[in-house]
Amino acid sequence: MKTNRARKGGGGPKDFGAGLKYSSQHQNMNGLEEGVEFLPANNTKKVEKRGPKCWVVLVAVVIGVSLLSLLAGFLVWHFQYRNVQVQMIFNGYLRLTNEKFLDAYENSNSTEFVNLATKVKEALKLLYSGIPILGPYHKESAVTAFSEGSVIAYYWSEFSFPKRLVEEAEWSLAQERAVTLPPRARAHHSFVMASVVAFPTDPRMAQTTLDNSCSFALHARGSELTRFTTPGFPDSPYPARARCQWALRGDAGAVLSLTFRSFHVAPCDGYGSDLVAVYNTLSPMEPHVLVQLCGTYPPSYNLTFLSSQNVLLVTLITTTDRRHPGFEATFFQLPKMSSCGGYFRQAQGTFSSPYHPGHYPPNINCTWNIEVPDNRNVKVRFKSFYLAEPDVALGTCTKDYVEIQGARYCGQRPQFVVTSNSSRVTVHFHSDQSYTDMGFLAEFLSYDSSDPCPGMFTCKTGRCIRKGLRCDGWADCTDHSDELNCECNPAHQFTCKNKFCKPFFWVCDGVNDCGDSSDELGCSCPAQNFRCGNGKCLPKSQQCDGQDNCGDGSDEATCSKVSTVTCTKHTYRCHSGLCVNKANPECDGKQDCADGSDEKDCDCGLRSFSKQSRVVGGQDADVGEWPWQVSLHVQGQGHVCGASLISPTWLVSAAHCYVDDRGFRYSDPTLWTAYLGLLDQSKRSAPGVQEHRLKRIIRHPSFNDFTYDYDIALLELEQRAEYSSVVRPVCLPDTTHVFPAGKAIWVTGWGHTKEGGTGALILQKGEIRVINQTTCESLLPQQVTTRMMCVGYLSGGVDACQGDSGGPLSSVEADGRIFQAGVVSWGEGCARRDKPGVYTRLSVFRDWIKEHTGL
Ligand code: ARG
Repeated sequence: MKTNRARKGGGGPKDFGAGLKYSSQHQNMNGLEEGVEFLPANNTKKVEKRGPKCWVVLVAVVIGVSLLSLLAGFLVWHFQYRNVQVQMIFNGYLRLTNEKFLDAYENSNSTEFVNLATKVKEALKLLYSGIPILGPYHKESAVTAFSEGSVIAYYWSEFSFPKRLVEEAEWSLAQERAVTLPPRARAHHSFVMASVVAFPTDPRMAQTTLDNSCSFALHARGSELTRFTTPGFPDSPYPARARCQWALRGDAGAVLSLTFRSFHVAPCDGYGSDLVAVYNTLSPMEPHVLVQLCGTYPPSYNLTFLSSQNVLLVTLITTTDRRHPGFEATFFQLPKMSSCGGYFRQAQGTFSSPYHPGHYPPNINCTWNIEVPDNRNVKVRFKSFYLAEPDVALGTCTKDYVEIQGARYCGQRPQFVVTSNSSRVTVHFHSDQSYTDMGFLAEFLSYDSSDPCPGMFTCKTGRCIRKGLRCDGWADCTDHSDELNCECNPAHQFTCKNKFCKPFFWVCDGVNDCGDSSDELGCSCPAQNFRCGNGKCLPKSQQCDGQDNCGDGSDEATCSKVSTVTCTKHTYRCHSGLCVNKANPECDGKQDCADGSDEKDCDCGLRSFSKQSRVVGGQDADVGEWPWQVSLHVQGQGHVCGASLISPTWLVSAAHCYVDDRGFRYSDPTLWTAYLGLLDQSKRSAPGVQEHRLKRIIRHPSFNDFTYDYDIALLELEQRAEYSSVVRPVCLPDTTHVFPAGKAIWVTGWGHTKEGGTGALILQKGEIRVINQTTCESLLPQQVTTRMMCVGYLSGGVDACQGDSGGPLSSVEADGRIFQAGVVSWGEGCARRDKPGVYTRLSVFRDWIKEHTGL
């Protein structure tokens, strides 16, 4: 597959941004806040009117006043002392400045530990008793661990506050305090406490509810890896409603590097789901959390985290009963970095955030001073950039950031360039105490200020792009500067009102490509009419009336009320034989047929990994990203064609792959081997890969080797495939399923990465778009039948190519399920302008597939 330009843009909704898209995994967990209003004490005074001679009124007023004060008194009592006592656990740490750390402090059963813990507890009690907002409400405290740094004691304290004091108390506990104990206490305890802080804790993680059998303390041995897992991993699921923690330590002066090797917990459903958290301390304190994880991650996702000192705490809270294997992790210690950043005096070089692509540690500052030869200017290109943190207001970089020439950069950004108009630049990187990310990888280059992009076009952002990409309707510069001030080519381009140039076939396709809607103006129908998918104008009264008036079903496709209608070739037929007026109702998570048949047989089209790797650049697919993709090898020739898995025993592929050619018997099933769960052609024996022989090849009887009409085949496996995280089936679209023009679809395969080039080792993916059938027919005159569909870009650039044939077109549909829209069939060259790829339309063959496979 050829994917040199995987995105287009231009300001409209088709501007997909860069590379992979991610949704933030962090949720704002703000709870509800209840407001309690107190009556102002002087409210009662309002009734103090004096009426001469009116003793009756006076008595009434006296009674009223007493009633009111009684009520006020009751309210005060009610709010202060009843109902509204709030139990709270605070987790914190404190430093004992004049104590020495003993090894025995690592073992909470040692006498040394117990003695020091008792002293700290008493000292805390004393400390709280001197603070009016805390003292009366303190119930209990306990020390959970000690670590080096003089001695750091980690503890929790339980309080029971009247609700109205909670905020003030929280504030008071979060303050750093240095405490010298009063003289009497000092006689007992020799120590001085510094930096005493505590923060409210997730009640589920409160020590009192901690499951003792699920609490572990591990100390790194030398520089060896230490492994730990959730209980029962990987054979049995981790316990339901568990509260587990792993306290990890290294020697004094070391830092820890923790990696989750396998991560598979319940999906992130917001509050109430299972959650793994990593803290940069030994107490589960929110402001020191490095990451919160849930769901599943592919093994290629970088889940390495660095601490800023010699301890880390990993916690697992499970609230669900769902069964998941849990995680496997390793950690080791390494010497603390003495400094980060550096001085560069050279024309070019690279640098990155500490431990890249692992997550950088919290609390660091690095500075790079870069100086290129005097007569040149310097630019810095960030090739990957991940400095994302939850709750950072858009456009502000208040937490982790990179600062260059007074501008701050943060969050997750596609590749970008910062240019300086001198020979020097200073790059500063800052990470705060919570949440860390994968950081950045950057290179710096020197350039001639009068010609920053020799032979190329210079984007306003400083990036250099091929001159041919200017004014082609696609935003190649992230700021669209390559598409500004263009003269559109009247032969195949439409001039938007805002002067962007767009291919003609995007005009009136229902998508605002220009960004100012000018490509969709004048396409509408007269008043009281609506526009069908095929452009026809019909009276509004014919919409959702149960009749297919448009002729393409589009007037019945999106009716707010799903109802049973007369069956046509555009309506979905339930098993009962009744039809519903909803487009693509299969497996969308909503029952549309009264008999539920639209939601039956829906074990398809889902990936096992809820997260996608944040692969730097390129279009390599990730492990488990396309679990239905199959590679078909022929004896002595290696990979020849692609296919897709639709059930444990059946594959869909292209008929033309199985036609005898130049004396070779491609039609013989015994010569083929199917690889399932494969990513890298050079690693066919990697774990998870399944090798299968073919029992049968069913080519479509109408396949025409000359026109490639009916280019579809069914392959039966000799043995059943076993579903796993990397082997799963795709959903088959119903005969009536529509993949509308303009829809983005993914094509995948190991085919040539360039016309006339060579195949790829790693499975490639490319995002392309459905082209409407009329445009398709006019671009490839006399060649396109109704069994075919064009998918690609008219400007070329992304396409399937030799060796991708037989592979699937994967379309993400309602409910996130992936349906196969087509089979890679043919094309004129690869990725050429105005020559999109042609695919076998899968929906046409739904009945034929059922006939042969029973599916
Ligand atoms: N027929 C080719 C094959 O055997 C697939 C060609 C697809 N070409 C394209 N430009 N979309 O692999």
